[in-house]
Order: sequence, then C-alpha cells, then structure tokens
Amino acid sequence: STLRFSALVLTTLVLGACDGRQSALHPAGRGAEDIAELFWWMCIGGMLIWVAVLALAYYVTKARPEAHSETSARWLILGGGVAFPIVVLTILLMYGLAMMPGLRSAADADLRIAVAGEQWWWRVRYQPEGSEAIELANEIRLPVGSKVVFELSSPDVIHSFWIPSLGGKMDMIPGRVNELVLEPTRTGVFRGVCAEYCGSSHALMEFEAVVMPVEEFDAWLAAQAQPAQPPRTENGRKGEAAFERNGCGACHSIRGTDADGMLGPDLTHVGSRLSLAAGTLGVDVADFERWIAQTHRIKPDAHMPAFDMLPEAELRNMAHYLSELK
Ligand code: CUA
Repeated sequence: STLRFSALVLTTLVLGACDGRQSALHPAGRGAEDIAELFWWMCIGGMLIWVAVLALAYYVTKARPEAHSETSARWLILGGGVAFPIVVLTILLMYGLAMMPGLRSAADADLRIAVAGEQWWWRVRYQPEGSEAIELANEIRLPVGSKVVFELSSPDVIHSFWIPSLGGKMDMIPGRVNELVLEPTRTGVFRGVCAEYCGSSHALMEFEAVVMPVEEFDAWLAAQAQPAQPPRTENGRKGEAAFERNGCGACHSIRGTDADGMLGPDLTHVGSRLSLAAGTLGVDVADFERWIAQTHRIKPDAHMPAFDMLPEAELRNMAHYLSELK
C-alpha cells in the first residue's frame, strides 16, 4: 500500500503540474519568472550538493578504506561536508537576496488595486482617476505589461493572496495593509487562491486573475464604472422586486439602485463575472438559484443566510435578475 500511495502522490504531482492556470513553474509575470528561475537554480544547486556529498561519503567509507590516512579523511569531510555546502549555499543565498528588492519595489506603479480577503471571498476595489471607486468580487482584471500594486488587507482573519502564475504570495493581515507588486507579461486567465487556512471554507476561496490587452482592460473598466442596467425580461423585473422585498440590499450594493449594503459582495455587474461564490459556481441562472437557496450546502459557514424558505418561482426570478446584471 506504501507503493500505491507513492504512485498516487507522484501521479498527483505530475498531473498537478499540467494545469497552466495555476503553475509557479509556468510563469506569466515578472515575479513568477524570477521565482521559477530561482527554483531551478536551487534545484540544481541542491542536487549538486547531494551528489557531491554522497560521492564523498561513498569514497570515504567504501572505496579502499585502507588507502587514505586519517588526515586526508578529515580534509575530505571538512571539504565535502562543510566547505562545499557553505560555498554553494552562499552563492544561492546571494543570488536570492539580490532578486528580492525587484520583487518588492512599489515605485512607479501603473495601477493600484485594493483587495480584501474575507471569509470566504475577495473584495476587489479599483479607484480610476477622477471617478468613483469600482468594487467587484472574486475577479481581478489586469492590463498586460503593467506594474500593478495590490493593497492587501483583511477585516476578519489572516488570509493569503496568491496567483502562482504571476508571482509570490502575500499574507492579508487584519489591521494593516501589505503591498504586493505583480507585473503580468502575457495575457490569459489564471487561478488565484487563498494560501492561508482561514476557516471551514478556506478551500472554497478562489478567484480569477484575467490578464488582458491594455485597450480591452480600459474598455472593461469603463463598462464596470457604469451603473447597473435595469432588467430586460419579465422574470428579471419580478426578480428585482423580490430582491428588494427580501432585503438583499441590506448586505449587497447594486450601483444605480437603492441596494447599498457593504457587508457582502457588490453585485452591480455580477452577471458578467466568470464565477460565483469565489470560484465555486458558474454564473448561469441555475447557479444563482442554487447559491441563494443552498448557500451552506455549497459553502459551509458562509456568512450569507440561505433563502431556501422562498417559493421556487421567486428564487428563479431573483436568479434571472442577477444573471442579467452584466
Ligand atoms: Cu482565506 Cu484561506
């Protein structure tokens, strides 16, 4: 069974490396490139030390033990066991230290995005110059080739913000703002995760990082700045009324309507997002309906109450309304 377990672990590791959406070794950002390079040098350096020490140990203990004196054995141990690792590790350390200022510098940033980790979703805030702040959830869009500074915080417990394809991770600590600099170098959709255990639904706390051509990003941001469009269908209009009647606006904001709650995610353009409930569901009508009715079956301990007491038609209409918020 040890063999079977090892095979399972190995298969998981090998297959796990296949998904380019979340791979630190398939970099799509400046920081991730540095980290991947550092990883390979550390790997090669570690292997060199390992092979050299094994070879020396073998030579000293097995190969003609009568051939060398005590003095030469001592030099072999000092050289192979102390001097050689010190030299190699010092080189690797200097190499790693020299890389760090570049990963940290927030000077001359093109864009600043505030992200708060909350149990168990991501509050994302853009502050375009000369206009109102735009808030959304569980989705971060970035212009390719730009230097982006993330202002990371948390209102509840410690979370950790990590987009492996773009760079290193950074803790989000209540009561302070940590800055993380990322510079995406190619377009694509990458997976972001919470990398610090933060409660029962920690594993259901994901987001999408979408790296776009600059013009597309500008158009997207301009569209996000618009208030919500009124619902287009009969179901959508009934859904909007149900949304108001059930007090959803006490926790959620929809710009352009009376809903201005700050506790939960802003829903102004929720229908245009790539996922619902922090990467747990899609954004079809059926997904919205499932989320509203079965909140805790989908995400244990989520702070939003489930609304399974509502009639099915009302749930369906609200789902229509939300999915029309594009
Ligand atoms: Cu948030 Cu783990």
